[in-house]
Amino acid sequence: MNNRPAGTDHRGAPEGFAGDSCGDVLIVDDFPDTLALYESMLSENGHRVRVATNGVDALRQVEEREPELVLLDVSMPGLDGVEVLRRLRARPGAGPAVIMLTAARREPHAIEAGLKEGADAYLTKPIDSRELLARVRAALETFRLRRMLDAQRRDHVAMLVHDLRHPLSSLGLLAEVLEADDMDAHDRESAVSQMRTLCSEMARLVDSVLAASRLEAGVFSVEPRTVRVGAIVEPTLAVFTPVASRRRVALTFEGSLALEVYADPQKLRQALDNLVANAVKFTPRGGRIVVRVSSDGRQTIFEITDSGPGVAEGERGTIFDRYKQGSRGRAAGGAGLGLTIARGIAEAHHGSVSVTTGDLGGAAFRIALPSRASGGVQLSASDPD
Ligand SMILES: Nc1ncnc2c1ncn2[C@@H]1O[C@H](COP(=O)(O)OP(=O)(O)OP(=O)(O)O)[C@@H](O)[C@H]1O
Ligand SMILES: [Mg+2]
Repeated sequence: MNNRPAGTDHRGAPEGFAGDSCGDVLIVDDFPDTLALYESMLSENGHRVRVATNGVDALRQVEEREPELVLLDVSMPGLDGVEVLRRLRARPGAGPAVIMLTAARREPHAIEAGLKEGADAYLTKPIDSRELLARVRAALETFRLRRMLDAQRRDHVAMLVHDLRHPLSSLGLLAEVLEADDMDAHDRESAVSQMRTLCSEMARLVDSVLAASRLEAGVFSVEPRTVRVGAIVEPTLAVFTPVASRRRVALTFEGSLALEVYADPQKLRQALDNLVANAVKFTPRGGRIVVRVSSDGRQTIFEITDSGPGVAEGERGTIFDRYKQGSRGRAAGGAGLGLTIARGIAEAHHGSVSVTTGDLGGAAFRIALPSRASGGVQLSASDPD
């Protein structure tokens, strides 16, 4: 499940995306002069252009080979633009990716009807050549970006289903084991505890996906209040210290637990948990993790630093994006959502998250939150680096 979506490089940009915003264009207009003008402008700019002088010819050409973009005149004798549009959108897969109407200013009804029938945009005649080129280019770029994101989404949904499938199969197996009559109490207890672990693994994955979707939908809110740092950090340390020590990694705290911070304690803890979970996951045996909290009056900084492999400079800009993992990430499991959620939580507090190389040689992740005393939510937290 380590495959990247087809046609994308490691950062998810489609091949040739930056340099090539030219496309396969069909221009439909009953005025030969208009056709010739648009055709020469678009082909001079590198687009592959075909032309049609009426609706029937346009549909025939689309049937022959579907263009990426159709520039369609709304008022033509015979089959008019809106009817052509309707038939194009009725094609399997909803027809060409972008359909752009061209219409005179006095034809607002036709434009309105066209937009209702699924046109993506319109241009009013007479069309300025620079506008035509810019709009066609922008429409093609938007379409390609959307296609790339859809492909990524499909890929990641498949990945998440796969990640849930594994613990689910294990749960089934353990249930079968538990059915056996000859099981002693100790084995039974161990099977039940494994089932609990698998359930919390699945719940964590589902919760991450839900939190990321809420962030994306913009329905993620925080309820900040003044809380002691200890109330946030202590539960995190209590959960992760035994996990770290099983892996022979020392997890310690530096700073004052009595400091006060203006934050939503549950949400901030979730962000901190995600960063500490990463540190535990990526730090090899014998390593160290330190959680530090400090304040300069302007901001409160939570730093999680480890002696692990760190994050390569080239990956620092992308690992906070949804589903993005660094070179080590996928091999270590997970969905690539932990940092996205941490960043969303920090930003909901008007703060920020950043990564650098820390004093233990590995990664240092810092959440910086504005202190309420110095302007609270109005203050935009600057990157501490
Ligand atoms: N402490 C760290 N040391 C080294 N690399 C890290 C560290 N924390 C994060 N990374 C890199 O950043 C990537 C993104 O982290 P993120 O928490 O978003 O996803 P994940 O841990 O891979 O999956 P999830 O958190 O959804 O279980 C990781 O895959 C890894 O490549
Ligand atoms: Mg993570």
